[in-house]
Amino acid sequence: MSELYPVPPDFAADAGIDKAQYEARYADSVHDPEAFWADVAQRLDWITPPTRIKDVSYARDDVHIRWYEDGVLNVAANCLDRHLAERGDKTAIIFEGDEPDDTRHITYRELHGEVCRFANALRHLGVGKGDRVALYMPMVPEAAVAMLACARIGAIHSVVFGGFSPDSLAGRIADSTCKVVITADEGVRGGKKIPLKANVDAALERDGTRSVETVVVVQRTGAGVHMQSPRDRWYHSLIEGQSEDCAPEPMNAEDPLFILYTSGSTGKPKGVLHTTGGYLVYVSYTHACVFDLKEEDVYWCSADVGWITGHSYVVYGPLANGATTVMFEGVPSYPDASRFWNVVDKHKVTLFYTAPTAIRALMREGDAPVTRTSRRSLRVLGTVGEPINPEAWEWYHRVVGDERCPIVDTWWQTETGGILITPLPGATDLKPGSATKPFFGIQPAVVDADGKPLEGACSGNLVITDSWPGQMRTIYGDHQRFVDTYFSTYPGNYFTGDGVRRDEDGYYWITGRVDDVINVSGHRIGTAEVESALVAHAQVAEAAVVGCPHDIKGQGIYAYVTLISGVEPSDALRDELIGWVREQIGPIAKPDFLQWANALPKTRSGKIMRRILRKIAENQPEALGDTSTLADPSVVEVLVQERLSQ
Ligand code: PRX
Repeated sequence: MSELYPVPPDFAADAGIDKAQYEARYADSVHDPEAFWADVAQRLDWITPPTRIKDVSYARDDVHIRWYEDGVLNVAANCLDRHLAERGDKTAIIFEGDEPDDTRHITYRELHGEVCRFANALRHLGVGKGDRVALYMPMVPEAAVAMLACARIGAIHSVVFGGFSPDSLAGRIADSTCKVVITADEGVRGGKKIPLKANVDAALERDGTRSVETVVVVQRTGAGVHMQSPRDRWYHSLIEGQSEDCAPEPMNAEDPLFILYTSGSTGKPKGVLHTTGGYLVYVSYTHACVFDLKEEDVYWCSADVGWITGHSYVVYGPLANGATTVMFEGVPSYPDASRFWNVVDKHKVTLFYTAPTAIRALMREGDAPVTRTSRRSLRVLGTVGEPINPEAWEWYHRVVGDERCPIVDTWWQTETGGILITPLPGATDLKPGSATKPFFGIQPAVVDADGKPLEGACSGNLVITDSWPGQMRTIYGDHQRFVDTYFSTYPGNYFTGDGVRRDEDGYYWITGRVDDVINVSGHRIGTAEVESALVAHAQVAEAAVVGCPHDIKGQGIYAYVTLISGVEPSDALRDELIGWVREQIGPIAKPDFLQWANALPKTRSGKIMRRILRKIAENQPEALGDTSTLADPSVVEVLVQERLSQ
């Protein structure tokens, strides 16, 4: 039995949703989803309120997901205009720059004005409803402005994390034929500069990027960058003289809002498509419930806008709710390991949401950097992105939260748009390491390898049996891949790709990916992507990549490389290959370990046996399991010997 952390009574007394309300509302939500979600949708301002609430089929030959399909609304108007009367002077965004003295407060009125000016500028550049716009930005308010400006005019944004390489950026631009790229001269994180504009220049030299007509450049560091006329335009010149009025485009609820690329187990990254109405209903509602949001809260999610967490819980959820949201440009360790908690004290942050990898890294620095700060303002702590180990959970609870603050361990995915399995802080007793219970309307099930549903306490694969409004609608340009990836493994269900255990109390414990996706510091890396980068190197014949345990990152990247004949392994070549992957994909995909392999373990039909490679990487040769199906079992012995001698 794991230890139970009951809801603190004084927290429960003040909470928006208590235990009984959770139970009752959850029962309603799964008993009559249409009535439930029709009611929740009223939290938004609709130009035309929806009458058709849900039209969903998970049937393999006809997968379609539609919510509120006759409703009309605009996301930017919901995040800005409707707050002006009551909250015009309320701070919408607190910007906390990389350097601690670099802070800006932006009110809802100011943000509305800036979004309108930039939306008008985009319209002048010929951007309209349905056009794709790529964002390759640092964590500055202009990133949120650009997202909202696209939403205002009906353009579809595709944010690419600033840590991705020019090649990765080019691939994403090409896949969705973007018309405009919005970037900055440079980014700055932890005192280090990132040459964003130079990376865009390099990306636009790659094949397939000729759709790009304009590059808009935000001046962040003032570094001298090459501006290519007439393609490249400064953001500040473009918005100069633009009107602060810009009529929001009336959007159908099922019109696309954004594309966000994410790694899968095979092939190139998938363009996850989210639409307008259901997404905004879902992220605003989950944000309000999961964090027990109150009008005076100061909410800080430390994620980058380049990831889904940044979309849903830095920008859209909080702003739809009229909350104050902190945008942090820096890293937890700069200028020192007290940075997070100094920012909490400085802005009186009440709700704080971060990733287990950050908690583990800070925990390693000891308690002192935390305990020398006050943190009295904190009410709720959250985590997302990967399983949190109970030790890190307890440290977060005891040292950061002074045993006062409930922790919401939120499980969800790029594909789900918002949080699906999570505690509600006033309603759920906590168990360290468990994401606990489903959110309203979410029906998880545990199935075995054959798809048979398991009952009671059990372990297996996590599927969701019915839709929710924030679910992705398709893979941009490849609906068949959407069907194959998510609805074919366990027909009739959405397959999450995660393994799970359900305990005797009905609590869910996510055990990690069951496919060939590695979760490095809460970021998804497809093994196939790293492998194809490696084999693109002239001296590599073959490569296989698996995940391995890593103290800070959760999982590390372990690569096995076979060189072409005649090339000798060397430390210099190892460094070169690691650097090569970094260049091809970006620093987050850099292998942590690279082992030379004369040959890889394969079945007689030539399939690489990753299960075995995983065990070797985990240094568990005794757990290799059945190797009798291998074409040449001696390959494994050599790899094990060489692994041990490393
Ligand atoms: O394996 C799960 C893990 O992260 C995956 C989703 O990654 P991504 O699409 O990049 O989105 C991350 C932010 C939502 C999931 O399939 N994951 C996410 N949150 C948790 C988690 N694993 C365990 N516990 C969590 N709270």
